[in-house]
Amino acid sequence: MPSSPFIIIAIDGGAASGKSSTSRAISERFHLLHVDTGSFYRAVTAELLRRGVAPSDTAAVHHVLPQLKLTTRVQGRSASMEIGGHIAGEEIRSPEVNASVSHFAAIPELRTFLLAYQRGQADVARSHGFRGLVMEGRDIGSVIFPEADFRFYLHADPAERARRRAEQGHVDQIAERDRMDSQRKTAPLTIPSGATDIDSTYLTLEQVVEKLSGLIEAKLPRL
Ligand code: CDP
Repeated sequence: MPSSPFIIIAIDGGAASGKSSTSRAISERFHLLHVDTGSFYRAVTAELLRRGVAPSDTAAVHHVLPQLKLTTRVQGRSASMEIGGHIAGEEIRSPEVNASVSHFAAIPELRTFLLAYQRGQADVARSHGFRGLVMEGRDIGSVIFPEADFRFYLHADPAERARRRAEQGHVDQIAERDRMDSQRKTAPLTIPSGATDIDSTYLTLEQVVEKLSGLIEAKLPRL
């Protein structure tokens, strides 16, 4: 088999837009490391809350961030963030984290703190023998990997997204998070220019995955 190039796929989109399920399936199909950057913001949020830091207390956030030692553990095809050698559990999906993650994510220093760590996931993928990585988030195609080989933006009607999140049994204010994520000054949620916009409202997960896979396969020989 000819040696294939290392590929980077960026998938951005609003809350509960189907990014995680889609990215996981794409990682399987193309042998890529799956990197969920939302889980990174969630893990840091859970850690700050555990230390009693409120998002409004930016001085405390600035003080604590340098104390967090971030490393990565690869489990199956997924990258998990370790903070001080520990991987956070289901608490990162708790109502408390849902309610404050976008407030923390709007703090520019916190985003800068996570920038190099996120870009470093490409080296993690290489060192584990993956063919590339698929990274999902809000600013992957715009800020983290603007030169990604593939940049997708997933969206779906708010009512459909609320239904999907409720089906997962989670208490989440997705409209409020979307509003905050889109309006923040640093790296707001936006459709990066040149990204492929996919509306998944009336598509099944399989149909979304087929659509992305077709676009990826069509371009792969030209990379
Ligand atoms: O649960 P859902 O997929 O809707 O969100 P998530 O991907 O887990 O991200 C949780 C929160 O982290 C978002 O609402 C953003 O505030 C923040 N985030 C961000 O600011 N930038 C990213 N690249 C990823 C997540």
